[in-house]
Amino acid sequence: MSNQSCITISKITKKYKNSATNALNEVDFEINDGEIFGLLGPNGAGKTTLLSILCGLVKASGGGATIFGHSINDNPERVKRILGVVPQDIALYPTLSGRDNLMFIGRMYGLSGAVLKNRVDECLDKFGFDTNANNQVKHYSGGMKRRINLIGGILHKPKILLLDEPTVGMDVQTRTSIIEHLRQINENEKMTIIYTSHYMEQAELFCNRIAIMDKGRILCLGTPQELMIKEERADLEEVFLKLTGRKIRD
Ligand SMILES: Nc1ncnc2c1ncn2[C@@H]1O[C@H](COP(=O)(O)OP(=O)(O)OP(=O)(O)O)[C@@H](O)[C@H]1O
Ligand SMILES: [Mg+2]
Repeated sequence: MSNQSCITISKITKKYKNSATNALNEVDFEINDGEIFGLLGPNGAGKTTLLSILCGLVKASGGGATIFGHSINDNPERVKRILGVVPQDIALYPTLSGRDNLMFIGRMYGLSGAVLKNRVDECLDKFGFDTNANNQVKHYSGGMKRRINLIGGILHKPKILLLDEPTVGMDVQTRTSIIEHLRQINENEKMTIIYTSHYMEQAELFCNRIAIMDKGRILCLGTPQELMIKEERADLEEVFLKLTGRKIRD
């Protein structure tokens, strides 16, 4: 991991139409190349909005960001090729198999032929699928769907992976195994990972650095250790409680 930034976010503000308050208020920070960065906050904090702006799905009302020097406002197509995105809401075709869903997603990213087939096989294997990859997605458990969703974001070997709540609704074992896979991808493929979560304990173990946000603002940012020392608390859950006056899962 280097200390060179790969994403520079500059004063991003977002106000949705018909909304009285800003979803994001002058959000301003950098993400380092190669790190695992956690964006933590309660429901409505603005996590999905920020990721959606970075990947071009939502337009910022003010401010901007550069990704490896490319502006998200001026050069969205270039930015899209650098990013892999795993959305919070799963978007898979229920009547297709997990494998066919991935072949479809891979083609959308411009992969084809043996390269695509080999990459799909490699990822399915890595994420614990066997012949069940050939079953229709409608028969999958929630955890299996999440894993297919996740593979969809890394098929084209993006330099940066944006993950929106990748482990929500999973049991502890599945959650731990997904996190372990992500850690390996981060190490082996040098992929920067930015992920959002409500799980403070998980982030504490998994992330190099984290930002805690609430109501569209970044409240603090640093390594889990730095934040606990600075706020004089024993864990991140307590840090959050101190900064916001409430529990993250209220
Ligand atoms: N399309 C939209 N139109 C209007 N308001 C929106 C829209 N999307 C999000 N918001 C509002 O913006 C704020 C931030 O929402 P966002 O989905 O970014 O939060 P989040 O941190 O991802 O929450 P969660 O943990 O529930 O996923 C919320 O107040 C939400 O109601
Ligand atoms: Mg969200």
